[in-house]
Amino acid sequence: MLKTVAKSFVVALSVVFASVVWAEEIVIKFSHVVAENTPKGQGAELFKKLVDERLAGKVKVEVFPNAQLFGDKDELLALLKNDVQLIAPALSKFEKYTKVLQIYDLPFLFDNMAAVDCFQQTPEGQAMLKSMESKGILGLAYWHNDMKQLSGPKPLKTPADAAGLKFRIMSSDVLQSQFEAVKANPQKLAFSEVYMALQTGTVDGQENSWSNIFSQKFYEVQPYIMESNHGLLDYMVVTNAKFWNGLPPDIRDELQKAMAEATAEANKIAAEKSAHDKQAIIDSGKTQVLELTPEEKAAWREVMKPVWDKFSGEIGADNIAAAAACNKS
Ligand code: LMR
Repeated sequence: MLKTVAKSFVVALSVVFASVVWAEEIVIKFSHVVAENTPKGQGAELFKKLVDERLAGKVKVEVFPNAQLFGDKDELLALLKNDVQLIAPALSKFEKYTKVLQIYDLPFLFDNMAAVDCFQQTPEGQAMLKSMESKGILGLAYWHNDMKQLSGPKPLKTPADAAGLKFRIMSSDVLQSQFEAVKANPQKLAFSEVYMALQTGTVDGQENSWSNIFSQKFYEVQPYIMESNHGLLDYMVVTNAKFWNGLPPDIRDELQKAMAEATAEANKIAAEKSAHDKQAIIDSGKTQVLELTPEEKAAWREVMKPVWDKFSGEIGADNIAAAAACNKS
C-alpha cells in the first residue's frame, strides 16, 4: 500500500515537473552577419514579429545582426552546438557540409531571380534543403538577396581587365575557380573583414549584391561597379536538426507557418531593396556604375563557363540541367 502511494506520488511529481519544463519559454537565437536594413536582416525581423504575435509566452526569437554574436567563421559550428538555433548563411558557405549547394555559385547559371525561384521549387531544389540533415543541419527556407555585381579599382569590361587583381570571395571553391578562370587572384575572407580589406588594398575588388555593397559602404572604397549579374547571392535559413525535431509538434507547425510567411514577404522585400540600393549607390556619386553590353557579358560567360564542368560531378549533372531549364520558363 505504502509502496503504491509512493509510486503515485513520484508519477504525479514527474507530471508536474514535465509541465513546468514544457511551460518554459523556448528561446530561438537567430544570428546573421549583415545589417538590419538588408533583405536577410528584414526577413529575420519579420520572422521574429510573426512569432511574437502568435507564440507569445511560448517562444521568443532574439535576432543578432552584423556578426555581433557569431560571424562567418563560427556560425555553423555555433548552430551545431545549439548555441544559436537559426542562421541564414549565403549558399556559398555550406561547402564543408554538402557539395550540392555549390550549384548556386556556378557563374551565369541563372538568368534572373525568376529562374532561381523556379529551380528552388523543383524536387531537386527542395531536396537540397535536406542535404545536410545527416550532419545535423536542416534547411527551412531559401531567402533571396539578388544577383551579384563585380566591383573594382578600374572598369572591368572584359575578363582581361580582371587578370592579376585580387578579389575577395566567400568561402567557396566554385567562386575560387570562377576568378581563376579570368586569371585573377581570389582571396577567401569573412564578410565582416571585407570593407577594411578593400580600404587598405589587401584586396582590389569583390563581388556582391547591391544591398550588401550599399549597407557595407563598399561603394565608397570601390571606384567602379560593373552591373554584371554574373552570379547569385542567396541564403538558406537553417536550424539545428535535433533542436527542431525535438520541438513540441504544435509549436513546430506554427514556427513553420511563420517561416513560410516571412520567406514570401522577405523575398519580395529583397527585390525592392535591391532596386532601391542600386539607385542610392548611383545617386551617391561616389562610384561609377557601368553596364556591360551583351557582347561584353558573353565574353565573361564564355571564359567562366568551364567552371560548370569542373564541378558538375560533385553537384550532379541532373541538378544543373534542372536549374538551366528554369531559364526558359
Ligand atoms: C558575403 O559574405 O558577402 C555575404 O554572404 C554576406 C551575406 O550574408 O549577405
